[in-house]
Amino acid sequence: MRIPIIAGNWKMNKTIKEAVAFIEEIKPQIEGTDVEVILCAPFILLKDMKEVSKGSNIKIGAQNMHFEESGAYTGEVSVLNLKEIGMDYVIIGHSERRQYFGETDENVNKKVKKALEYDINPIVCVGETLEERQAEKTRDKVKLQVEKAIEGLTHEQASRIVVAYEPIWAIGTGMAATSSDANEVIEYIRQTLESIYSSETAEKIRVQYGGSVKPQNVEEIMNEPDIDGALVGGASLDPQSFVKLVNF
Ligand code: G3P
Repeated sequence: MRIPIIAGNWKMNKTIKEAVAFIEEIKPQIEGTDVEVILCAPFILLKDMKEVSKGSNIKIGAQNMHFEESGAYTGEVSVLNLKEIGMDYVIIGHSERRQYFGETDENVNKKVKKALEYDINPIVCVGETLEERQAEKTRDKVKLQVEKAIEGLTHEQASRIVVAYEPIWAIGTGMAATSSDANEVIEYIRQTLESIYSSETAEKIRVQYGGSVKPQNVEEIMNEPDIDGALVGGASLDPQSFVKLVNF
């Protein structure tokens, strides 16, 4: 049985003060949930978020990391720092990082391996552009991204990753994929994982959907058989909206 995930990706939003207040507000309202709750925030907020979430069911994640443990990489953050502040998750290969910061499939693979080495679970993002969807290249694109991201992982390592299928045209546009379209691609992602590993391993890997998920459409998305969670941007920024997502 895969435990469903509701994860917020705050992107480059919120101050430390706002993040702490957010967690204090939502903590008592999500206590009884069966889903795994994750908040991914800018680096500078993470230590305080981890502190304030202690004793709750909220897990905290970063939005990126470097694949080297240390070195001359001005402005970067290493896995060692994420580990020492107790990060549970790290988003790897978000389309915004691929688009604006030159993140490559090769780097994604190195980062995934490094995160796993330190017991931080990577949330690996994949997804097609609108042009690729229109050209019916969605499957080819996500297959390639998944294959490259997990290259060289053992069954045990692969079972610890989370894949987030985020069609780029659905991110921040208010135009979510229909739940059945999202489920179809996610089913295909699981088939891809099965062909690389085994059905047993593929059944353990959670695959989320991301792209304009809101309190209004979360239930429909989560009810799809292959969708194990949602990675939410905009609608995760307001505490009451996030509570609704978690308690869908
Ligand atoms: O990582 C989450 C994301 O890219 C989706 O953003 O604002 O469409 O929910 P949004």
